Amino acid sequence: MPTTTKSAKHAVARHATVTRSTTHPFEVRRSRIQGRGVFATRRIRTGQRLIQYIGQPISHEEADRRYDDKNGRHHTFLFVLDEDTVLDARRGGNDARFINHSCEPNCQTVIEDGEIWIEAIKPIAPETELVYDYRFDWDDAYEPDDVRYYACRCGSAKCRGTILRVPVYLRPTIRQWLAGNDVKRPRKPMKKGAVKKVTKKRAVKKAAKKTLAKKTAGTRRRA
Ligand SMILES: C[S@@+](CC[C@H](N)C(=O)[O-])C[C@H]1O[C@@H](n2cnc3c(N)ncnc32)[C@H](O)[C@@H]1O
Ligand SMILES: [Zn+2]
Repeated sequence: MPTTTKSAKHAVARHATVTRSTTHPFEVRRSRIQGRGVFATRRIRTGQRLIQYIGQPISHEEADRRYDDKNGRHHTFLFVLDEDTVLDARRGGNDARFINHSCEPNCQTVIEDGEIWIEAIKPIAPETELVYDYRFDWDDAYEPDDVRYYACRCGSAKCRGTILRVPVYLRPTIRQWLAGNDVKRPRKPMKKGAVKKVTKKRAVKKAAKKTLAKKTAGTRRRA
């Protein structure tokens, strides 16, 4: 569910009704992570395609309108399909909308021919909750409160503390923010290839290296 859109608190009922499926190897139950979740009922193998994420296709603007960020915590049923379209599973969605996020996922989402599918990335035993990494887009303008707004409760030892996809250079800072210590953020490191001041000697050396790289590019070694 990679999206930057925040949402309304009241979007779903808090108490789960168990739904059983004869075709799917999973069912919806109450989850320790949040609200309802989806749990394996049979053994699932790596690569098994489990369910399509469906919902009403809407624009990003409409998604922002439907789920504003003026509430205490986020709760969305949105999935970004591409630059123009978001699926809102609150309308026309299936059980896929109850799959929670984890920083240590056993599933992934695959976009193929304009469809979103959830697939297992490891063998999953019955009773295990199905989870994938939502990887909410990082925004450089995020402040400590925004990060706390997206706090993760996956419970994994590998939990990064937030559902957001945090840039590597900011990870220690984010950990501090999540602990309530609003330290100043470090400067964003320069991108590879960004213009740097170089001495004449280094520039000559660099140019020589570049030519060599061009010559060898595309050469395949045989075993
Ligand atoms: C598509 S819903 C998943 C189903 C949800 N548990 C429910 O009962 O409606 C996505 C929402 O579930 C919650 N959620 C999912 N995974 C979470 C996690 N690891 N930590 C905190 N909240 C999570 C967030 O509120 C998120 O916006
Ligand atoms: Zn987590």
